[in-house]
Amino acid sequence: MAHFTKATSVKDWLNQRLAIDKVEKVMASEYWIPKNINFLWAMGMVLVVTFVLLLVSGIFLLMYYVPTVDEAFYSVNYTIMREVDFGWLWRHIHGVAASVVFLVIYIHMFTGIYYGSYKKGREMIWISGMLLFVTFSAEAFSGYMLPWGQMSYWAGMVITNLFAGGSLHADGLVEWIRGDYVPAQAFLGRFFMLHVLLLPLAIVGLIGLHFAALRIPHVNNQDGEEIDFDAESKKYLDGDKAGSKVIRFANDFMSKDIMVVGIFLIFFFYLVFWNYSFALDPVNFDPADGLKTPAHIYPEWYFLWSYEILRPFNIDLGLILFGFAQVIFVFLPFLDRSPNTCPANRRGTMFKVWFWLMLSNMIILTAMGKLPPEGVFSTIGLVAAIVFVVQWLALPFITSREKKV
Ligand code: HEM
Repeated sequence: MAHFTKATSVKDWLNQRLAIDKVEKVMASEYWIPKNINFLWAMGMVLVVTFVLLLVSGIFLLMYYVPTVDEAFYSVNYTIMREVDFGWLWRHIHGVAASVVFLVIYIHMFTGIYYGSYKKGREMIWISGMLLFVTFSAEAFSGYMLPWGQMSYWAGMVITNLFAGGSLHADGLVEWIRGDYVPAQAFLGRFFMLHVLLLPLAIVGLIGLHFAALRIPHVNNQDGEEIDFDAESKKYLDGDKAGSKVIRFANDFMSKDIMVVGIFLIFFFYLVFWNYSFALDPVNFDPADGLKTPAHIYPEWYFLWSYEILRPFNIDLGLILFGFAQVIFVFLPFLDRSPNTCPANRRGTMFKVWFWLMLSNMIILTAMGKLPPEGVFSTIGLVAAIVFVVQWLALPFITSREKKV
């Protein structure tokens, strides 16, 4: 048993039992952050704040939501939106946050790709990040089922149908997932459980893993400089704060994070109060009806790029390419063969073109995914889907030819 002495203060009492001083050092005052990073490095903290907003608003919604096919629609659209004081506010916060979180995730991902923050010891940060992306996607999809409107029902139908594997016709698997022949009570019940319990738990665990993965390699910086964190932190602690290349996370860097989070929240609450409709699909204000298929079924904007990779091809090839698009980003640290960890614009023409083409092509795929697959739009969608796949296949070749900068 460890040796305990009479505590001199509450902090000392806690310190003897929980070593809170050590925890505070490791996570805050001696967690070193490079000085040369810009506002894009605050996106991680913006994501943490948005996740908390989702959790808190979700808890309030859960007090009145009823997960049955007869009552779900009315508990959301009548009880929460009209009867409960400020129920509309919690719903707007939840809906807007669910959409905006993906915008921030994409910015955070593309920042990582641009600066090469997935390389040389940072692979686990990237992999845990991609696991977060996949889990967030499942969380968003399961949440979309809960209001039990027309889009909930039909998007649920279309997405679960994908598990039949095209001409494999694994219909038994689809029924097993649904718990019925069509989306019904068993389906709603299990997606409710996933949305409010299992997936949020997984997300909390994965955020823990993501942070743990950051601790040893530390965050990258905007110049791609390889910083000796031990030497630079020693310099800082010895008093040469100006000469050191690093600062403390708390309170120094955190104050910068808080400023970016503040600006984000102004934008966020502007959307919540004045421009929330983009986050609530009008078709979903009709109750689910298994006998009336909507004219055009499409997912939320953040899934459109991968949906557009599925759509232009026959079902089997479409499914293979859709699966490819879902997992390929995870392998980025291993497909990028270049020795350089620096901004894409300094990595030679080939990767520079690759990066900007990938970003613009995904925006094109997103736009085409929203439009009906007709005429010129379907041709553009087809070309963009092919470009996406070819770019990934070409990545190891173009990066292995890259010279050290
Ligand atoms: C959605 C939940 C997520 C949260 C809460 C989160 C949080 C954070 C935080 C706080 C940081 C450190 C500060 C910063 O660079 O912003 C960070 C870094 C990082 N994250 Fe995430 N992240 C999430 C998702 C993702 C995703 C989807 C990816 C992409 C695969 C990703 C990849 C990275 C990378 C590569 C870094 C290191 C950046 C660097 O070294 O410069 N994260 N994340």
